[in-house]
Amino acid sequence: SEKGLKDYYADYFPIGVAVSPRSLEGESAELIRAEFNSLTAENVMKMGVIHPEMDRFNWGPADAIANFAKENNLKLRGHNLVWHQQAGPWIFTTEDGKTVGKEELYQRMKAHIDSVVGRYKGTIYAWDVVNEAISDKPDEFLRKSEWLDIAGEEFIMKAFEYAHEADPDAKLYYNDYNAIIPEKRDRIYKLLKMLIDNDVPIDGVGIQGHWSIFSPTETELREAMDLYASLGLDIQITELDVSLYQWEKERRELRQGESDEFTPELEARQKEKYDMFFRVFRDYKDQLTGVTFWNVSDRYSWLDHYPVEGRKNYPLLFDEDYKRKSAYDAVAHFEDTN
Ligand code: G3I
Repeated sequence: SEKGLKDYYADYFPIGVAVSPRSLEGESAELIRAEFNSLTAENVMKMGVIHPEMDRFNWGPADAIANFAKENNLKLRGHNLVWHQQAGPWIFTTEDGKTVGKEELYQRMKAHIDSVVGRYKGTIYAWDVVNEAISDKPDEFLRKSEWLDIAGEEFIMKAFEYAHEADPDAKLYYNDYNAIIPEKRDRIYKLLKMLIDNDVPIDGVGIQGHWSIFSPTETELREAMDLYASLGLDIQITELDVSLYQWEKERRELRQGESDEFTPELEARQKEKYDMFFRVFRDYKDQLTGVTFWNVSDRYSWLDHYPVEGRKNYPLLFDEDYKRKSAYDAVAHFEDTN
């Protein structure tokens, strides 16, 4: 049968995709089987979904993804255990509506990690243990969050320790966005270095890869890869997509009402960017243990809703009809220079 991305990259790294249970049917399921060899749950393993109340777990959707991975012999990444967003609000609150104490929060965090990591032990090979704990503000190290407020800085270390106890064989990742932009990159580096120096069981860093046709540049990407690699950690690109719009500009003025047509010019620029990203990735194949796209095709992406609701984006390698885009060819058909 025809080769897929996973076959082109067999000598490099697994090629993953983020899914929701509804992507595991019909044409989308066929595409996943043909092109990818790793899965991540886009939403359904997050605390707010999988553990909506202290004594209630919602395993169904996560099990559907785990079963699909097993049946089709795909690797499975776990996303994620501790995050400031989509935490079950219950975890920070006592029964009488007060903010929970520090000891209690650690007990709840451990119970959550034990249950979720324990259930998928042997199926999930890598976990995003802590997600997005670094601040976006240049003068602030850790992001303000209920985790930080209640539990203090060591919530990060504890999360890794609990995850390691729950599954000593799982690869444990710290995962973040804007990880290439120098000032945030350096703060992420500082955190990783701290964890390593304190013998925290961390195996890798997840660079999310919510990028665009504007950034990062090849130099920025290589500098960041070199820096993270110098820590001796594995690296994964965990949430790759290439937006047509400019992130920095978005923050100041949402480009509401502008055309969202996927013009041939944009298509060419996106192809060029994807080509460069994967050229760099191949050069780092010794450190890079996976590249995961943040959804299957342009039919559905979180970027259609963010930061401008309803503005269509076309960030992936397959179009809305699951057909390969020109960026696909750039990624798949490369010269092996080894
Ligand atoms: O499922 C509900 C639906 O029942 C409800 O009617 C609807 C109304 O808003 O919301 C649906 O849930 C949405 C969910 O996606 C599923 O589509 C949530 O509102 C929405 O907030 C959620 O967004 C997700 C976001 O994380 C927040 O958790 C995106 O799909 C998901 O792609 C995005 O992924 C994150 C990574 O986890 C971490 N890194 C950044 C990345 C992009 O933001």
